[in-house]
Amino acid sequence: MTDKLIPLKIAGVGYSLPETVVTNDDLTKLYETSDEWIYTRTGIKERRVVSGEQNAVDLGLEASQRALEKAKMTADDIDLIIAASSAPPDLYPAIACHIHSRLGIEKQIPAFDITAACSGLIYAMSIAKAYISSGMYKNILLVATDNNSRLVDWTDRGTSILFGDGAGAMVLTPSDDGVDDIIAIDITADGNFGHLIELPFDGQNCPLVEPNEKREAKIKMNGRGVYTFVAKVLPPYVEGLIEKAGMKADDIDYLIPHQANIRIIQAVQERLGYSDDKVITNIKYYGNTSAASIPIALAESVEKGNVKLGSTAILCGFGAGMTLGGAIVRLRQGIC
Ligand code: UT7
Repeated sequence: MTDKLIPLKIAGVGYSLPETVVTNDDLTKLYETSDEWIYTRTGIKERRVVSGEQNAVDLGLEASQRALEKAKMTADDIDLIIAASSAPPDLYPAIACHIHSRLGIEKQIPAFDITAACSGLIYAMSIAKAYISSGMYKNILLVATDNNSRLVDWTDRGTSILFGDGAGAMVLTPSDDGVDDIIAIDITADGNFGHLIELPFDGQNCPLVEPNEKREAKIKMNGRGVYTFVAKVLPPYVEGLIEKAGMKADDIDYLIPHQANIRIIQAVQERLGYSDDKVITNIKYYGNTSAASIPIALAESVEKGNVKLGSTAILCGFGAGMTLGGAIVRLRQGIC
């Protein structure tokens, strides 16, 4: 431990998507809907879904391997793994422990999961920043991975149209030039709105006592309620983060938001006064990949050259909880 705060760098990012594409037209085989209805209300045309035995761990492993490669590190360099997910294949072992094993790391290191739904990556970044700046850990692997396609109710056309599967990963490490790539970060939550998106997982009471109500382990969402809450809360939250950092919206080059609904993204865009070329969206092709959505958008935009390296970006997300998170980051050369 040290008294001086240690700056960190985002050393590498990576992402992974399942191959199978489900289009809006495909969904018309499941219920009464149309490509036009879904696209105009959400901005989504298609999403990727896992098939067979592939799950969030497989996706997270692939994203992690790519992020490690970009960071020019091996798995053995990592001294902490944090996974963010709300669709793990097991409550335990944690996804982070599965990734520890699947990366072939033989030494013991801490590995744990956090549940902050679609804000998960920002929550994980905030934890990692505290650890690195205090000197407690050095090389931290963050994995944000979800396969909500296993948890949505495929008879509920108001919810299942939104979600897709995917994973993103990020390697954070002390910076060697004194510059901190996380310029500002904030996480928060309002549990009073937790009822807006719920996924029950409460099992059954001991057979010797009064039975509890059996609830289906499927996502239940009040879409209109989520939309109203987020459209009101997220734009001023993002603006407040920029102000608290002593910056102006124009000082930041790109907005890389959680890909939940194009109309929510546009509400943030309008509040910041950004032109379309400053806003990264891929919701059209992947839908809402939950915790993975921000790191996929980040890693893909860097990989495809849609953002210039050496620039800055504001990441922002919201999710079940309701959780919120935002970070202003530097995208340095070599990140991808
Ligand atoms: O990370 C998770 C975050 N979640 C979100 O970001 C969700 C945010 N909310 C939304 O994106 C929108 O609320 C939805 C796209 C989910 C729904 O759009 P909406 O305009 O709020 O629709 P609604 O739920 O108010 O439903 C309006 C109508 C209803 O019909 P009636 O009762 O007016 O006859 C629905 O039954 O649209 C109907 N409807 C559909 N029609 C065709 C709902 N889903 C569909 C559908 N296709 N897929």
